[in-house]
Amino acid sequence: MSFFIHQTWFVAVFWFLIKGDVVWCNCSMNGMEIEGANFSLSNGLNEGSILQYQCPTGYYAYPELAYRCQLNHRWTPEPQSRLRCRRVECPDPTVLQNGYTLPINENKRYYYESKITYHCYTGYTLHGPFRRKCLENGKWSGSNPVCRQDSGDCADPGVPPGGMRFGNSFEIGDKVNFKCRSNMILIGSEQRECQVDGQWSGTETSCYYKYTYDSPWEVTGEFGRGIRNTLTSEFVDGTQKGLSITLSRNGTLNIFIALDVSESIDDDSFQSAKDAIKTLIKKIEVFSVYPNYEVIFFSSKIHTAINILDFYGSNNPPPMKTLLEKVETYKIEETDRFGTNLNAVFERILEKMAAIKIRDSRFSEHKHVIILFTDGGYNTGGAPTKTVEYIKSLVYMDQLKNRLGHLDIYVFGIGAQIQDDILKPLAIGEGKSHYYKLKKVTDLQKTFDEIIDESDVRGLCGLYQDYGEMVEDENRKKYPWFISLTVMNDGRPSHCLGSLVSPRFILTAAHCFKDKSSNVTVEGTGGPKLEVQAIHIHPNFNISAKVNQGVKEFYDYDVALIELVEDAPITISLRPICIPCTVETNTALRQNLTCKEQENFLLKNQAEVTFLTKKNFGKKVAHLKLDADRHNCIMQAKNHPNITEAHVPVVATENFLCTGGRHPYLDQVACKGDSGGAVFKNYESRTFQVALVSWGSKQMRNCKNNRPVHSDDESRDFHINLFKVVPFLKSILGNTEKYFVPLLFVD
Ligand SMILES: *[C@@H]1O[C@H](CO)[C@@H](O)[C@H](O)[C@H]1NC(C)=O
Ligand SMILES: *[C@@H]1O[C@H](CO)[C@@H](O)[C@H](O)[C@H]1NC(C)=O
Ligand SMILES: *[C@@H]1O[C@H](CO)[C@@H](O)[C@H](O)[C@H]1NC(C)=O
Ligand SMILES: *[C@@H]1O[C@H](CO)[C@@H](O)[C@H](O)[C@H]1NC(C)=O
Ligand SMILES: *[C@@H]1O[C@H](CO)[C@@H](O)[C@H](O)[C@H]1NC(C)=O
Ligand SMILES: *[C@@H]1O[C@H](CO)[C@@H](O)[C@H](O)[C@H]1NC(C)=O
Ligand SMILES: *[C@@H]1O[C@H](CO)[C@@H](O)[C@H](O)[C@H]1NC(C)=O
Repeated sequence: MSFFIHQTWFVAVFWFLIKGDVVWCNCSMNGMEIEGANFSLSNGLNEGSILQYQCPTGYYAYPELAYRCQLNHRWTPEPQSRLRCRRVECPDPTVLQNGYTLPINENKRYYYESKITYHCYTGYTLHGPFRRKCLENGKWSGSNPVCRQDSGDCADPGVPPGGMRFGNSFEIGDKVNFKCRSNMILIGSEQRECQVDGQWSGTETSCYYKYTYDSPWEVTGEFGRGIRNTLTSEFVDGTQKGLSITLSRNGTLNIFIALDVSESIDDDSFQSAKDAIKTLIKKIEVFSVYPNYEVIFFSSKIHTAINILDFYGSNNPPPMKTLLEKVETYKIEETDRFGTNLNAVFERILEKMAAIKIRDSRFSEHKHVIILFTDGGYNTGGAPTKTVEYIKSLVYMDQLKNRLGHLDIYVFGIGAQIQDDILKPLAIGEGKSHYYKLKKVTDLQKTFDEIIDESDVRGLCGLYQDYGEMVEDENRKKYPWFISLTVMNDGRPSHCLGSLVSPRFILTAAHCFKDKSSNVTVEGTGGPKLEVQAIHIHPNFNISAKVNQGVKEFYDYDVALIELVEDAPITISLRPICIPCTVETNTALRQNLTCKEQENFLLKNQAEVTFLTKKNFGKKVAHLKLDADRHNCIMQAKNHPNITEAHVPVVATENFLCTGGRHPYLDQVACKGDSGGAVFKNYESRTFQVALVSWGSKQMRNCKNNRPVHSDDESRDFHINLFKVVPFLKSILGNTEKYFVPLLFVD
């Protein structure tokens, strides 16, 4: 919310409103409607309500984008001319130096959907697009073209459409200044300097009209790059070459997220904004960086949803699930949504930073990121400028040059009432633009969804994406480790499943192969074909080992690894699952556990596990029968036609986990073709494989028609417990003498 009201007057007024004993007249829509446009009111025609228009694509409401219903039941600002939708205009491109644009347009005005081409004078070459189009958000498509001559140390930085440049010399140390026309706002750097490395300092300058917005994908690019750098940069010595991003994997990152919930934000927008924050927190998790969070919602008051001090002085930081729940369930009463006190937000952040500094002697190594979302400026509490200065001096410690990278402030202005003059100066960041303007809150979620491309993150196991949509394409992202195999044995094809456990290896069942020379094809990865180098079968696997005891088929140690010719390309839809007793699994669990501790943590009696079937990634849910429940479960092996009760202790060895049956849960059971597939659990947004499907006591009839197959009283499945075959896994996956990157195993 952004319209200035004198503070004491404002407070007095909402005292009356809360008490409710004064009847105020309402604003009226008379003369306020715009032909061809829809409008929304944040709080009906009551005082404080914000009136916003939705003009058709490529149009904006004129003379103002929004109005606020005042106490005196009038709209402010008071409309001075007829209200209408106007066609969006893009800034004047004819400011181009050393060239011209076509077509020539006398009045130099270029509206939505105009197309122009760029041409350079002889001796100059065009850098940038030849053709541009005026887009609905008031920007020209593509980057800003420049007609350049190769002279100077830095390249000609061009002139932003709608603006002008002062300074025509581009040698090292030269400075150029930019300005925009009076009715426009300058975004980016006002001054840039040609640096020793031949690059301009700061960020590209643009001129925005009041109705110019950034598209979600533009913000994704910019903000995503910034935050990704923060999350992935390894430790860099702050004194070296003036580089200053100092977050190591073991470093501390404090993220402060502040969201404006003043009355101009309705419930739907509030929910969208909360969803966006949750997405952001989940995405950051992907980098195995575990920041400390402060999440505050603000109006004239500050509401703390997540307190960053909970992360300090305790050995158990709140798990991500708790953080997400806290954001989701946070409620703010209507009566607490009055006013916008931006200064209080920064004061609160300053207080928290000061408290952290007292608690953590390594404060100087911390990196701080502040992300502010607001739909306007402020109307109480005064300007935050001074508080932001205090924050800077707390972080920079009088060493501005070396410590710039320790503080980033991202500011997102959302909606029709953004006050650029207040918000823009609050954004701080090195070399990048940290101020963004979005049209709608829903654009925010889109932005964060795309921001972090998980394919960047190699070496992290068990990552997956789940948007709850049952689309073929989405399924691969949900189960990116899923592998389907066709094996030719004696000229006959048979089908098995497997799981990618490292970029180089697929884990599956040994019984899928007649022997290690079987011809196997890896399918259904949705990507490039994976070529097989070798098959490694567990040395103890011998299907006829117990024939002399009357057991026709013996499946103990039913585990094999398929080695690929080269690493599978890791993408968002093809990446490894976490397997037992690896350091990667500890990282994903955010704990430092031994192998035994991992087993105790992941395998619990009646714990829910899942395995898949090939068709449509059909999901089957079952429950582990351990401890006291194990005996009953394995005894049902006798229902297998080739197994007698006397055979059970021989066939159902300690290496198997047993699931199935109808009590206490109705389990689903495996079918032929599910063999070798991962039995897994999801925990904190990661997937952990604990076993693999080996054999079952009963072939169920429903298996034929691909329906979910529920267990009956006699059907049980036997899965190889991966914790029992760790030495085999380690001998191959952990082999440090080969040419692939080994997995690291814990003791
Ligand atoms: C103002 O509008 C509200 C509904 O938005 C209505 O309930 C109330 O009676 C109106 N007050 C006056 C004085 O018209
Ligand atoms: C106004 O609302 C109607 C109905 O929801 C919709 O069909 C129309 O496209 C909207 N017009 C504008 C300009 O947004
Ligand atoms: C963090 O990691 C870096 C290298 O990865 C190491 O040099 C530094 O000592 C570590 N710091 C702490 C506090 O563990
Ligand atoms: C393996 O099987 C595929 C497809 O069935 C076939 O094209 C290929 O020639 C076979 N390779 C060998 C070595 O038999
Ligand atoms: C499998 O076990 C049987 C019976 O003990 C034995 O005769 C055979 O040699 C074993 N096969 C392998 C490959 O070890
Ligand atoms: C993890 O735990 C083991 C044994 O408890 C210990 O030796 C090791 O130093 C710990 N590692 C870390 C990174 O804390
Ligand atoms: C029982 O054993 C025989 C001989 O090994 C085998 O051909 C048959 O498929 C087995 N039956 C089942 C249901 O597995």
